[in-house]
Amino acid sequence: MSKVKDSKLSKEGLEELEWARENMPMLARIGERFEKERPFKGMSIGVCLHLEKKTGILLETLMRGGAKVSASSCNPLTTDDRVAAALAGEGIEVYAWAGQNEKEYYQNINRVLDSEPDLLIDDGCDQIFMVHMKRKELIGKIKGACEETTTGVTRLRAMEKAGKLKFPVVAVNDAYSKFLFDNRFGTAQSTLDAIMRATNKLLAGKTAVVIGFGWCGRGISERLRGVGANVIVVETSGRLGREEGPAGQHKALEALYSGFRVMNLEDAAPEGDLFITSTGNINIITKKHFEKMKDGAILANAGHFNNEIDIGELAKMSSKRQRVKENVERFVMKDGRRIYLLSEGRLVNLARPSGQGHPIEIMDGSFSVQALSLEFISKSRLPPKLIPVPREIDDEVAELALAVKGIKLSKPTKEQQEYAASWEEGT
Ligand SMILES: NC(=O)c1ccc[n+]([C@@H]2O[C@H](COP(=O)([O-])OP(=O)(O)OC[C@H]3O[C@@H](n4cnc5c(N)ncnc54)[C@H](O)[C@@H]3O)[C@@H](O)[C@H]2O)c1
Repeated sequence: MSKVKDSKLSKEGLEELEWARENMPMLARIGERFEKERPFKGMSIGVCLHLEKKTGILLETLMRGGAKVSASSCNPLTTDDRVAAALAGEGIEVYAWAGQNEKEYYQNINRVLDSEPDLLIDDGCDQIFMVHMKRKELIGKIKGACEETTTGVTRLRAMEKAGKLKFPVVAVNDAYSKFLFDNRFGTAQSTLDAIMRATNKLLAGKTAVVIGFGWCGRGISERLRGVGANVIVVETSGRLGREEGPAGQHKALEALYSGFRVMNLEDAAPEGDLFITSTGNINIITKKHFEKMKDGAILANAGHFNNEIDIGELAKMSSKRQRVKENVERFVMKDGRRIYLLSEGRLVNLARPSGQGHPIEIMDGSFSVQALSLEFISKSRLPPKLIPVPREIDDEVAELALAVKGIKLSKPTKEQQEYAASWEEGT
């Protein structure tokens, strides 16, 4: 039996779903095939994702493939209650509402696990972690899972290294068709959109400090520049649990050569009008930075968890903590300066109501990777490891994303293929 905020909201939720469905042609095509082939027939899928309209279309697609679907939210603030109500009316078990407390949040994940799923979809790894810690009896039944975001994949990599991962998990985040577009262009547009909706303030002429120049931070910095902000990038040195790929110092250099100012946060703190964290790391903005910030500085987080801004310390340093309006809180420092925090330091681009999540077309691509990866797990026998998205799926999704926009690419000629595979020919 679903638990949502108010089932009467379902009419509006259906309208939202209709708009998303109309704009997700990739999932529509995948859904048509699923309806014929029924890859999930007799299977139960447990989902822990931001529950909003685009996610709704993914869940419908899985049902078209024959699955029974149960869903909770992967964040206490990001459920669209209208959509949750509509999905519950469509036969999906939904346990989610915006504004859950931490206990309710975990209870809802647990309720989804009560459906004894064969497959999981997670975003941030809280669901997979709960199975490993508290619902171990399910491990034998679960065929595998998909993980949506960088932070979840980072946690899973650590679990795998410690020998604790007990079923296969496909790292959806690490597919090119996901992170190149979702983390970069999706987070960029939706983060700026949410900040503008929450504050209604002008970004042009402001000094914006972006902390973390990974896929998300790069996109956010580029878009901020596009609306006329002066952007300062803060990076760190080192690789942080990842051996492959560029280190923080490479990203700092990339930011510099892209035309951004680069400095550490101690130096940026007195300059910034707006600070956006996107590191996936803990305690990024702390007491020593709050101490130096200007009156009126605005703080927002685009990283997965609400631990990038040390809100506890900010509260301790304040004489007053006040709600200003939806998604905006004011912290009055003992010296009278005001610092504003958006969306309780949670994912600003998804925290309702100002956070609407990524643009629909972006999620059409990311969720196509999810749907096809889940189908791949359902048909395979995989070891209990972190598994990359098969290259054929990654390539197929990018091809489909172009095809639905009517864009055709020509294949390389036979001569070009042979040349690219050869080493003999030179000047
Ligand atoms: N808001 C969204 O919708 C959304 C979408 C995708 C990913 N995410 C989340 O955003 C976060 C970042 O994801 P990503 O894909 O950009 O990751 P990434 O690994 O590409 O980038 C993170 C960057 O942060 C830097 N960093 C780490 N610690 C730092 C510190 N102390 N100071 C300065 N920089 C530091 C790293 O060097 C790295 O360059 C993750 O938590 C991810 O799960 C959010």
